[in-house]
Amino acid sequence: MPINVAIDGPAGAGKSSIARAAAKRLGYIYVDTGALYRAVGVYSLRNGVDTKNAEAVTGTLPHICVDLKFQDGVQHVYLNDEDVSEEIRTPPASMAASDVSAVPAVRQFLFDLQRDIAAKNDCIMDGRDIGTVVLPDAQVKIFLTASPEARAMRRFLELQQKGAKDTYAEVLADLVQRDYNDSHRAVAPLKPAEDGVTVDNSGLSLDDSIEQVLAVIRETLAAKQA
Ligand code: DC
Repeated sequence: MPINVAIDGPAGAGKSSIARAAAKRLGYIYVDTGALYRAVGVYSLRNGVDTKNAEAVTGTLPHICVDLKFQDGVQHVYLNDEDVSEEIRTPPASMAASDVSAVPAVRQFLFDLQRDIAAKNDCIMDGRDIGTVVLPDAQVKIFLTASPEARAMRRFLELQQKGAKDTYAEVLADLVQRDYNDSHRAVAPLKPAEDGVTVDNSGLSLDDSIEQVLAVIRETLAAKQA
């Protein structure tokens, strides 16, 4: 049976950088499930569909095929056979993803794809509901979090490096809004799994966060094998 590690947590906790590095060290694949919701959101943005209108978003699903491909261990997300890995990273795509992720039909639409990948591969899968809903039997479940200010500062620096003009205040406001959306929606809200471990990395460097997550994974797997 493949080893599945679920890493959930709010935006900007460093989930993707940490999960990607940890997966590489362990020889697992890294699956970023947020990219799937982002791809669904991008379809609506491109087609002028109001992402806050659940019925309209549900109506886009029969026209969408989302897929993940791994090239040299790097995940690429495809929307109707087009690689949209770059386009999904813009701030409007982030907000659209948060909106469409609250639509039950969207979550259902992406559920099987996530389960299939995990059933076939040793993987670290990151998202919001991986340990609670998608992979309730994952051997390791980590809830990775940090203060809103620490998370907003990381996001802000990341966007600045890409040449984006967003201010720190805008990034913080955006993140607080997304936290609220993600944890207050009716389906699969963001919350720690009861049988998981919470890691708060507010004061930790990226390297130390990776080591801490690797330690939790190794200790949890060792305890299960004992
Ligand atoms: O992790 P991210 O920022 O790329 O995720 C984009 C949005 O998708 C985020 O607002 C919450 C949502 N999401 C989700 O609801 N469930 C997941 N498993 C992953 C992401």
